[in-house]
Amino acid sequence: MKKREQWSSNFGFLMAAAGSAVGLGNMWKFPYMVGMNGGSIFIIIYILLMVLLGTPILMSEMSIGRNTGLNAIDACDKIKKGWGFVGGLGTAGAFVILSYYGIIGGWVLKYLVKYITSSSIGNPEEYFRDFSSSSLEPIVWMFLFMALCVIIVIRGISGGIEKISKIFLPLLTLFIIIIAANAFFLPNASEGLKFFTVPNFSAVNSVKDLFSVILNAMGQVFFSLSLGMGTLITYGSYLSKDSNIQKNAFYIPLFDLIIALLSCTAILPAVFAFGLKPQAGPGLIFQTLPYVFGHMKYGRMIAIIFFMLILFAAITSAISLIEVIASFLIDNRKWSRKKACIIPGICYFLVGSAASLSFGILNNVKIFGNSIFDFLVNLSDKIIMPAGGLFICILTGYIWKPQNMFAEMSSGGKFKVYFQKTISFLIRYLSPVMIIIIFISSFIK
Ligand code: PHE
Repeated sequence: MKKREQWSSNFGFLMAAAGSAVGLGNMWKFPYMVGMNGGSIFIIIYILLMVLLGTPILMSEMSIGRNTGLNAIDACDKIKKGWGFVGGLGTAGAFVILSYYGIIGGWVLKYLVKYITSSSIGNPEEYFRDFSSSSLEPIVWMFLFMALCVIIVIRGISGGIEKISKIFLPLLTLFIIIIAANAFFLPNASEGLKFFTVPNFSAVNSVKDLFSVILNAMGQVFFSLSLGMGTLITYGSYLSKDSNIQKNAFYIPLFDLIIALLSCTAILPAVFAFGLKPQAGPGLIFQTLPYVFGHMKYGRMIAIIFFMLILFAAITSAISLIEVIASFLIDNRKWSRKKACIIPGICYFLVGSAASLSFGILNNVKIFGNSIFDFLVNLSDKIIMPAGGLFICILTGYIWKPQNMFAEMSSGGKFKVYFQKTISFLIRYLSPVMIIIIFISSFIK
């Protein structure tokens, strides 16, 4: 039997897993979520949930992957016959996310090229509206973005995913530090900084508000740490027994959080400096920021660095999703790596094209009252991700049992596993109960 590929080092794995975590979620979603959910209150709740909910699931996924050495579906099935559907749910979720992630990846690529070739964007709102609602152009950019990601994954684990992550992640960190540092010199910068550092209790003046903030924070933790989608099972399956899972489960969220906070530092002061509002939602980086860049000293250069940074972040996340699907087809269906990347690639390109058109000619096509794009986003964020997380907790907490997970984490006694009682409690009780409450409440308006 052919030996399963492995990461060339733990550092390589860490860069790839952190690369999966750090993505559009940190740079595009986190700042506007903070903007819409009461600033620092959201951040405090987010950090709490990241520790209590995120890290235990992260450890479970990595342990299931390394223990079985298989793709998400077969890994769950090996842990307990008949439970492959948990991985199946994640794999389906990876497909859904890819279909809309590619659209935004394409927009980012377009904006990067635009700033490289011309000095500014006339009226950013109009520009964004015209571009995103046109039929062909966004699809072409999406194709380019997806093709780039597929090519990287075709090159394999250590030769493709790991290599790219080891270059992109340090560069991305450098870029975001440059932009965040630049933000300090803007007029009114302190307003923006205050917005997400000083708690603003007026944003949560009812229990309902607080609940909605918690709900949004939980969704963001799942999305940002790439949980419930089989990514960490898949990446964990290429991990050597010499790696310390608990240490990795500490560094990945920490790094993810630092980048998310740096994104806020980079974006929010700039928004305030020009008297704009951070509650702009998804359009924040495509409509609000180009306005800011247009009025900033060296704005064009900052814009180029900014969109390059987002592009790198989006690529390292998209490739982790592609690998979830590819690894199943390679292990289970014995497809070649090339075929396992290209054929699903064509499928999510087609679904993505329909979603892209939902900003224009297909905007009156509704699925359960949502546009195609919003439907895909809601399906993955509100249903598949929490369900995937819940089943992972049940699988590890009650079927595989935390003791077996700790045995895997210790690599045969090599590493000490800390906080075992607390982690068991979180996986068996706190996380599932929280996910269920929040899951149900998301359907009650
Ligand atoms: N974590 C990624 C981000 O923040 C998105 C993602 C979700 C990637 C799930 C893989 C799996 O953008």
